[in-house]
Amino acid sequence: MGALLLFVLSLIFNHRLEVLALATSSDHDFSYLESVYNASDLPLKEEYDYIIVGGGTAGCPLAATLSANYSVLVLERGSVPSSYPLVLTANGLLANLMQEDDGKTPAQRFTSEDGVANVRGRVLGGSSMINAGFFSRADDQFYNESGIQWDMDMVEKAYQWVEDTIVFSSNLSAFQSIFKQALLEAGVGPDNEFSVQHIVGTKASGSTFDDQGRRHGAVELLNRGELKNLRVAVEAYVEKIIFSSNTSGFFATGVIYNDSNGKTHEAFARDGGEVILSAGAIGSPQLLLLSGVGPVPHLSSHAIPVISQNPDVGNHMADNPRNNVNMVVPFALDPSVPQVAGITNDSNYIQAISSVVPFSFPQPFSLFPNGTTPLQLSVATIVEKFSGPLSSGSLRLVSSAEVKVSPTVRFNYFEEPEDLARCVRGMRKVGDMLRTDAMEGLKFEDLEGVEGFKFLEPSLPRNLSDDASMESFCRSTVTTYWHYHGGCVVGKVVDADLRVVGTNSLRVVDGSIFNTSPGTNPQATLMMIGRYIGLKMLQEREAAAK
Ligand SMILES: Cc1cc2nc3c(=O)[nH]c(=O)nc-3n(C[C@H](O)[C@H](O)[C@H](O)COP(=O)(O)OP(=O)(O)OC[C@H]3O[C@@H](n4cnc5c(N)ncnc54)[C@H](O)[C@@H]3O)c2cc1C
Ligand SMILES: *[C@@H]1O[C@H](CO)[C@@H](O)[C@H](O)[C@H]1NC(C)=O
Ligand SMILES: *[C@@H]1O[C@H](CO)[C@@H](O)[C@H](O)[C@H]1NC(C)=O
Ligand SMILES: *[C@@H]1O[C@H](CO)[C@@H](O)[C@H](O)[C@H]1NC(C)=O
Ligand SMILES: *[C@@H]1O[C@H](CO)[C@@H](O)[C@H](O)[C@H]1NC(C)=O
Ligand SMILES: *[C@@H]1O[C@H](CO)[C@@H](O)[C@H](O)[C@H]1NC(C)=O
Ligand SMILES: *[C@@H]1O[C@H](CO)[C@@H](O)[C@H](O)[C@H]1NC(C)=O
Ligand SMILES: *[C@@H]1O[C@H](CO)[C@@H](O)[C@H](O)[C@H]1NC(C)=O
Ligand SMILES: *[C@@H]1O[C@H](CO)[C@@H](O)[C@H](O)[C@H]1NC(C)=O
Ligand SMILES: *[C@@H]1O[C@H](CO)[C@@H](O)[C@H](O)[C@H]1NC(C)=O
Repeated sequence: MGALLLFVLSLIFNHRLEVLALATSSDHDFSYLESVYNASDLPLKEEYDYIIVGGGTAGCPLAATLSANYSVLVLERGSVPSSYPLVLTANGLLANLMQEDDGKTPAQRFTSEDGVANVRGRVLGGSSMINAGFFSRADDQFYNESGIQWDMDMVEKAYQWVEDTIVFSSNLSAFQSIFKQALLEAGVGPDNEFSVQHIVGTKASGSTFDDQGRRHGAVELLNRGELKNLRVAVEAYVEKIIFSSNTSGFFATGVIYNDSNGKTHEAFARDGGEVILSAGAIGSPQLLLLSGVGPVPHLSSHAIPVISQNPDVGNHMADNPRNNVNMVVPFALDPSVPQVAGITNDSNYIQAISSVVPFSFPQPFSLFPNGTTPLQLSVATIVEKFSGPLSSGSLRLVSSAEVKVSPTVRFNYFEEPEDLARCVRGMRKVGDMLRTDAMEGLKFEDLEGVEGFKFLEPSLPRNLSDDASMESFCRSTVTTYWHYHGGCVVGKVVDADLRVVGTNSLRVVDGSIFNTSPGTNPQATLMMIGRYIGLKMLQEREAAAK
């Protein structure tokens, strides 16, 4: 009886006893810069043990890990974060995303064929340097369905390695506290307080922003590497994988890359080494296709010689839809990055930000009872996504000659009816939140229901029970959560060890391998995977040498 009680208590309190080993607040750590070179300063031909294409969210931890015992070259098309001060702070987050894309800015814009504007990282540290910083681990179902045979002890250690380097816990901002209370009042319980674990209920989670608002993205994981074994080339645009063949098949032996003067370089992997694509869910399938690994009809239509036929390269591309409710609030609210997540038992994830936005058209001064200036409006935004999605589409090359020309991509949002049903459930929950006491303070007028809010249109239908209007809201307001993934999915393009099937000494390690997006937000899992696969590769090689 006592044992049973203890067991039940441990289930209830387990998450509160979580041992936290997070980073302690510190300044940016730029030690990695001693390993960083401008691609134009590197030799035209070189050899390393490992070549990693893309110094992003998964690529940086992978490079740091392999560098413990081997020479590693990272090739990143963007420049160093310190060239773009906006990426270094939480205050720069929105300004960075809104700035015009000049071909070199850290946020590369693209619009999917669905018509939804999107963005991907083009900077050392990848999309972890332009994202909202929320850090939360994968859900249990992800491990079961990812197609990878996880060693869960190693998974735990890999997460901890990331967390004690670049993950922080800060006090909740005023708005995040209101938002957390609203989730609890709307029934998204229990209150799980702070946890980096994926658990049903409402919790605060980690962030790669520290309490001073400094961003510590994946780039700072490079500092954990053996810097003398690590070389990072920035402004290095990889064009293609070099393959050689013999009776054992095709081997990836190196890559061709361009520097910013348009000079072409070759980098080779030594025998026993590998080429690893970590160019992200758009970049990695694009490079496989450019290199002749993909569906034959598509390769042929671009006159690309076939190295290995694989009908799934560029397919199973998915993006989790995001739907928002935005409201202007009647007082100055400090901007806040997401710190809280509501995780429902129906697999809806609800988060929020507050921001101060310039308002360009005239408004009556009576709108601002507490003296906020009409040129700077405080906006509270509640955002919803759901696990999956089930709908997917594909990515296709536009140019076979120019890697700088982005491929086209289509995600087919809500093509699967279950995705639409999940959105409706999630937005109903958001509708419930708007009717909580916690949200009352954000109203302009003390009116019943949602009448007192100043929504930025379009807002949720008043009648949350009406399926047709809820569905139409979901479709008409769809945008991206930036969690797009797929294109080199496990079990189709790569095997359980993330090796590209039909080739040798070539792997893919980034969000393109996912058939579903892990947890509420993927960056924690991507960083874990970079570390995890790196450790596995070291182990394999050590075992092979014996
Ligand atoms: C605006 C925004 C907000 C987000 N918010 C969050 C959040 O709060 N929490 C969270 O967990 N996730 C968030 N995400 C999602 C998360 O950041 C991404 O899913 C993740 O960073 C992707 O990691 P990756 O390793 O797959 O690719 P990336 O990190 O994008 O890395 C790919 C790298 O490869 C480089 N590259 C591509 N092609 C080439 C080439 N040909 N040659 C050389 N280099 C190349 C790119 O420049 C890039 O640096 C957000 C994303 C965005 C865009
Ligand atoms: C890299 O070199 C190119 C050409 O040599 C130059 O234009 C560019 O500014 C350099 N980048 C950095 C970050 O120094
Ligand atoms: C994962 O798989 C294990 C073993 O098959 C099972 O016991 C567990 O319930 C699964 N968990 C989820 C969340 O699917
Ligand atoms: C966080 O909150 C605690 C408890 O209220 C307080 O002691 C501490 O000073 C706060 N930290 C910061 C950085 O504001
Ligand atoms: C999910 O949570 C709601 C309360 O928010 C509860 O009514 C329902 O029974 C729960 N469903 C499951 C499957 O646990
Ligand atoms: C084929 O080439 C690869 C890569 O160069 C090499 O590792 C392998 O030993 C070769 N195999 C044969 C049978 O020659
Ligand atoms: C790479 O350089 C070659 C030769 O100068 C040029 O044709 C090609 O367009 C360049 N590609 C990129 C991505 O800069
Ligand atoms: C706005 O001002 C009124 C009257 O001065 C005050 O009662 C109220 O608390 C203020 N609201 C906020 C959110 O500051
Ligand atoms: C809300 O929609 C439901 C379903 O369409 C309908 O039955 C109900 O009458 C509507 N309620 C109001 C107040 O319009
Ligand atoms: C790394 O190299 C050291 C010697 O330099 C060796 O002792 C160790 O076993 C190696 N570890 C791995 C994982 O290869």
